[in-house]
Amino acid sequence: MTETRVVPDPATECAELLADAVASGGHIALTGGGTPRACYRQLAGMDLDWSGVTAWFGDERCVPPDHEDSNYRMAAEALLNSLPSESDGGPAVHRIPGERGPNAGAEDYERELRETLGEEMPRLDLVLLGLGPDAHVASLFPGQHTLRVQDRLAVGVEEAGFAPYVPRVSLTLPVINNARSVVFLIAGEEKSDAVARAFGGGPSEDAPGSLVRPQSGDLTILLDPAAASRLSSPPA
Ligand code: 6PG
Repeated sequence: MTETRVVPDPATECAELLADAVASGGHIALTGGGTPRACYRQLAGMDLDWSGVTAWFGDERCVPPDHEDSNYRMAAEALLNSLPSESDGGPAVHRIPGERGPNAGAEDYERELRETLGEEMPRLDLVLLGLGPDAHVASLFPGQHTLRVQDRLAVGVEEAGFAPYVPRVSLTLPVINNARSVVFLIAGEEKSDAVARAFGGGPSEDAPGSLVRPQSGDLTILLDPAAASRLSSPPA
């Protein structure tokens, strides 16, 4: 099922959706960038039982976890630091070790996914994603070979296609598209062209967002009116 929701405040919708996922428990992959911060802050203010949640990340920049560009740091400051630790009923958190560099970081993260979820293709319960102005998702950038990787759960990205220009580690498309639910949170006019290319046409490596189509899961696209302004025909 695909649902496109254009709402004035997608961060609030997203927080509500994540709150439901938290209440159900399971494996949730968080996203980085700046857009989810408001959503994470709202989620942090909710009275939720996180004990059944395992938190993952969709991608990471290859910087230490306390660096200002770290996706983990953003999520920790906005959300994770306000939650109890795992031993006190909080979530298990698996951050991507970006400081290990793109290739070792991807290998470590893939190993952690397999140790936790088994050798089969992992089926995450919810993968939250943003969309870059160039239509990248996680750290899968337009035209890069990482879009074609089928046999890995995580890949090292030597050259970022978008700022900050540091190497990255990213989940691969097979993992993203095997999730039970994929949720995009996108806001702002500067994303409107990317939104139209990711969701208004066919699949293209020029717009990685167009390659995110869960095989047997739900796709929810949360947009504010500015981000949706060039989208004429949302995916069915
Ligand atoms: C990253 C991301 C990336 C992000 C988009 C949107 O590490 O850069 O996870 O895919 O979600 O670039 O980012 P903004 O919300 O900052 O526009």
